[in-house]
Parts: sequence; structure tokens; C-alpha cells
Amino acid sequence: MIDYAKKLEEMKIYAKENYVPILQDSSLELIETILEIKKPYSILEIGTAIGYSALHFAKHLKNGGKIDTVEINEETANLAKKNISECEAEDIITVHLSDGEKKMNEFVIEKRTFDVIFIDAAKGQYMKYLELALQLSKTGTVIIADNVLFKGRVLGGYNEHKHRTAVTRLREYLAAIKENEKLESTVLDVGDGVAISVVK
Ligand SMILES: C[S@@+](CC[C@H](N)C(=O)[O-])C[C@H]1O[C@@H](n2cnc3c(N)ncnc32)[C@H](O)[C@@H]1O
Repeated sequence: MIDYAKKLEEMKIYAKENYVPILQDSSLELIETILEIKKPYSILEIGTAIGYSALHFAKHLKNGGKIDTVEINEETANLAKKNISECEAEDIITVHLSDGEKKMNEFVIEKRTFDVIFIDAAKGQYMKYLELALQLSKTGTVIIADNVLFKGRVLGGYNEHKHRTAVTRLREYLAAIKENEKLESTVLDVGDGVAISVVK
């Protein structure tokens, strides 16, 4: 039987050596605590990378619970599938090779809802992901977004061309979750900034 914790440690080292951006320890701790309180039956993740966060999240599912995770990069998605299979978690975690927005739209058509939605992909798409996440939610759904402070650029006066669209979209995301009366939201300066919203 595979040593799950050891495999996760090896994945963390692989991510560091190969410049794969995965959840920072502090953000992961925060999200795992939320998941342990919530004990979700269904999680949707946008941005699988190598499956590191999904494999951590799987420890906190209710019995019989499942994770759908979406990754646009084929090579990365295949590596995630391999890692998930080595952890014998392929019955629990499904990796979808797709654009996040496209897959979310498909889930909307299928009338799927999720207990937790974790947004960790293209920063310029966060507003679109939020709009779709709301359609995939029900009362009590927790929507979590990582990297919302984007290395201090979002709260500071950042206006450089390079990341301007991402910074603008992230600012819009933070304003939208605060203004939406259906959401109870908080933004924490943990890791690269984590936004947590609960659907009322
Ligand atoms: C920050 S990484 C995800 C890290 C992962 N959640 C973890 O903590 O282990 C972001 C991932 O999103 C993927 N991505 C970027 N744009 C995407 C899109 N439009 N749809 C789906 N995935 C996307 C990238 O290829 C990358 O693997």
C-alpha cells in the first residue's frame, strides 16, 4: 500500500524543483481546516496542476465524496492522473483535461452543484469563474479562491502593463464577493491571499 503522506512530500519537492506553482503550506493549512469543518461530499477544483491540492483535499471528504478537478495543460493533467493513480485515489478524484470555464459551463448545463469550489487557475478569469461558481452552488457552498492578493499587487497601486488584466480582474473579484448579498466573504492575507465565501 502506498505511503500517502510520503507521496505528497515527494510531489511537493517535484513541484519546487520543476517550478510548478502549488498551494503554499499556510494556504493549504487554512483550506484543509475549512474542509475538515465542512466535510464536503463534492469538491470542484479549477487548476489541478500535478494533483497536489486535490490529493490533500481528498483526506477531508465525507465518506463516498468525490473531487472533480480541471486542468488545461495536457502534460500536467497526465502527471496529475499518474500521481492520483499512485495514491489509489482515481475513484475519488477525476481529472478533466479542459479549460476551466468550458468545463464549468458543461457542469451548469448538467445542473451539477458542489459543496466546495476551489478556484486556482487563470487569474484573468476569476470573475468568470465566480459567475459560474455561483451557478454551481447551493446554500452552504464554500467558494475559495487562491492568489487573490497576487504578491501584493492587488491591494497596492500596481498599474504595470504586464499583469494589469489579472490585477484588475482580481480587484473586481474581491469587490464582487464583498458586494454580493448572497455571499458572506472574507479575504485573508495568508500565502498569496485566500478569499473565502459562503453562499447564504
Ligand atoms: C496554481 S496552479 C494549481 C495548483 C494546484 N491547485 C495545487 O495547489 O496543487 C494553476 C494551474 O491552472 C492551470 N490553468 C491555467 N489556466 C487554466 C484554465 N483556463 N483552465 C484550467 N486550468 C488552467 C495551469 O495549467 C496550472 O496547472
